[in-house]
Parts: sequence; C-alpha cells; structure tokens
Amino acid sequence: RRVLFRAVLAGGGTPRRLYELLAGEYGDNIAWHQVHLFWGDERCVPPDRPQSNFKLAQETLLARIPLPAENVHRIPAELEPPREAAAAYERLLRSHWPQATCPAFDLVLLGLGTDGHTASLFPGDPVLEERKSWVRAILAPPAYEIRQRITLTLPAINSAGAIYFLVSGETKVPVLHRVLEQNGSALPASRVRPAEGEPRWFLDEAAAKGLQRAQGGR
Ligand code: 6PG
Repeated sequence: RRVLFRAVLAGGGTPRRLYELLAGEYGDNIAWHQVHLFWGDERCVPPDRPQSNFKLAQETLLARIPLPAENVHRIPAELEPPREAAAAYERLLRSHWPQATCPAFDLVLLGLGTDGHTASLFPGDPVLEERKSWVRAILAPPAYEIRQRITLTLPAINSAGAIYFLVSGETKVPVLHRVLEQNGSALPASRVRPAEGEPRWFLDEAAAKGLQRAQGGR
C-alpha cells in the first residue's frame, strides 16, 4: 500500500521562507508524489490575488517541485456564498477520510496572529466552539483587510498527528509569551493541540530572542 503524507499549509506571510527552502535542496529528499497538501485557511478571494494563501504557496513552492497537480487541494474560497465554499472544502476533506469523525492530517502548519488568532480562528468567535464541522466560513475582525475567510475548525486541526507553529518577528513576542505561559488559554492558538503530545514551535531569531527577554532571560 502506498504511504501518503497529508499536510496542511499555513496562511499569512511567515511560511514564505519555509516554502522557498522546501523548493530548494531541502525538498530534494521528499517523495513529493506521496505528499498531499491542504490549507488551514483562505481569504475569500480568487486564487490569483496577492491576498490568497494558495498563491504564495503556488509561486514559492508548488511551481518549483514535482508535486502532481492532483495532490494539491486548495480551498475554493472564491465560491459564493462563503458558506458554499466551506461546504465544498468539507466535502473534499470528507472524500479523503470517508466515515471519519475528523480528518487525520499527518501535519498541520500554523501561523500566529498578534491577537492570538491562528488559521482564521479569531479570539471570541463562536466558531471556536464548533464540534462537528471540519470547515467553516467566518468573518475576521474589522481591522483585517479581507474579512471573509474559510477556516479549518479546532476539531479538524486538533485531530492532526503533529502541529507545528511558525512564528517570526518581534511583533509576535507578547502573544507568543502569553500562549506559551498558558496565560492566554482563551486565545485560539492556546486551544490548538495535536491528537497526542503538544504543538511544536519554530521561531526565528527575532521571536526567539524577544521571547527569552519576555521570560526574564531564562
Ligand atoms: C491567515 C493566516 C493566519 C496567519 C497569521 C500570521 O491567512 O491570516 O493563516 O493565521 O498565519 O495571521 O500571519 P503572518 O504570517 O502574515 O504574520
């Protein structure tokens, strides 16, 4: 039986460097034909818009690796209304895990927003209490440029075998500190936990040094 590796890519700008590395020599040892890629969230724009999470991955990674097109499962966030886009993605996921109560991704990559959001799960949004659906359409807070978004739900994310957070830059330090010290248990990022164990955190130098300072030089 062919072994598959099913991974969820993160949105936002942070994953760019990872995608570039995977498109280069780090990707040479990956059996791409056995990898299937999904997304954690998407802005409701067509896939060729600069705000599209898919577009960043497409340009920096997918266009440069021998990954079969049928292994790429983007969120069709341009469908109207957004709840239809969410339903379409949920059907797609369920076709990969028929009869399952939750998908079983091997790896979910996530970013962290300065307000503690991850994927498109924002603080205080009732979608955080979702138990059954794997995918939902949500409205981000007014400060965000593209408010209409499609996101995986907590049960869909938390069923993963492994969850990796990618965090870069000084601006993320206060929220990172809160999430890691468990002082922010109401924050969406604090409610993310893989099926077994803990999420793993990958920080760039600015985030790591800032965190060390915030923790009092420990
Ligand atoms: C999105 C995201 C989101 C992102 C954070 C961090 O589409 O908005 O998936 O969770 O990871 O907002 O974004 P940056 O990496 O751009 O800081």
